[in-house]
Amino acid sequence: MIEQLQALRTRALARLEALETSGDPGALEAWRVEFLGKKGELSSALRLMGSLSAEERPVVGQVVNEVREELESAFAQHKAQAEAQALRAREAGDAVDVTLPGRTPFLGAEHPLQKVIRRIEDIFLGLGFAIEEGPEVELDYYNFELMNFPKDHPARDMQDTFFVTEDLVLRTHTSPVQARTMEKMQPQVPVRIIAPGKTYRRDDDDATHSHAFAQVEGLVIDRGVRMSDLKGTLLTFARQLYGADQEVRLRPSFFPFTEPSAELDVRCIYCGGAGCATCKQTGWIEILGCGMVHPRVLELGGYDPHEVSGFAFGMGVERVAMLLYGVTDIRQFYLNDLRLLEQFSGLAH
Ligand code: DAH
Repeated sequence: MIEQLQALRTRALARLEALETSGDPGALEAWRVEFLGKKGELSSALRLMGSLSAEERPVVGQVVNEVREELESAFAQHKAQAEAQALRAREAGDAVDVTLPGRTPFLGAEHPLQKVIRRIEDIFLGLGFAIEEGPEVELDYYNFELMNFPKDHPARDMQDTFFVTEDLVLRTHTSPVQARTMEKMQPQVPVRIIAPGKTYRRDDDDATHSHAFAQVEGLVIDRGVRMSDLKGTLLTFARQLYGADQEVRLRPSFFPFTEPSAELDVRCIYCGGAGCATCKQTGWIEILGCGMVHPRVLELGGYDPHEVSGFAFGMGVERVAMLLYGVTDIRQFYLNDLRLLEQFSGLAH
């Protein structure tokens, strides 16, 4: 019996040694069940103890205990080794190779129109203007009424409107933000704001028209504001946007909310004024509408036109962007063709 136990020990330990190289985590557990489990070989040996004499029993019992302790400690040791090895293997698999070249992440970029809006904002922020916003779905009251377009006024035809209801429109221009700002600020001066945003008109889309487009509105109200302030401000703006030598001119025009009204032309930035297809041989390109705020608009906004005066302007962002970047079709801005957008990402290949 004692020899049997010794043989069992030798066999079990040899099997355990052999396991070490197999690397199979299940094999270690199988070994434990086979030799140390309830139905394992050592337990079978124990069951034979009953057939031993009273003298033999303690002697064999001691050997059984020794063998069990030895096998248990060998098992624990192997198990710890196996776990350590598995951990090392996992760590080796996860290791970062710091010498590998990095992967270039795909970076998005600001849309060219957003880029232009930011440039415009930066220029006006530098001139002391604040930025205001208004809703794109706007009351007729702000879009037209307060801007001095009474109902049935023929000037409403200039702006083909998307009506949501009889009183609610998709704003046709950013000018209603003028009215909203006056409502909020009156009777305080100075008012010095720009309002960038989306606008909508029932236009058929073509190379120069889009039913959705962006504008930047401007409004200044203070005591003693004059036309020369308007011209100086817009000249400064044009020079910061297009270059220090940029020339501008004001051309008379009409808008219901300004009097007098004008359009601002810049010297054609392509031909320098010699005449080309872009400026239709005139040497000038229109970039915005402007004027002195109509006294009626000031009054409707809660200001006394005898006390204060103001100027306003509104520019089409797409137009400014087309001129800056040499884009010839306004629809390019809305197609979101990556080949165009990537040219503004700084990552073009
Ligand atoms: N709201 C006008 C438009 O959409 C543009 C404009 C003209 C705005 C003159 C102004 C302005 O503030 O003074 O066509």
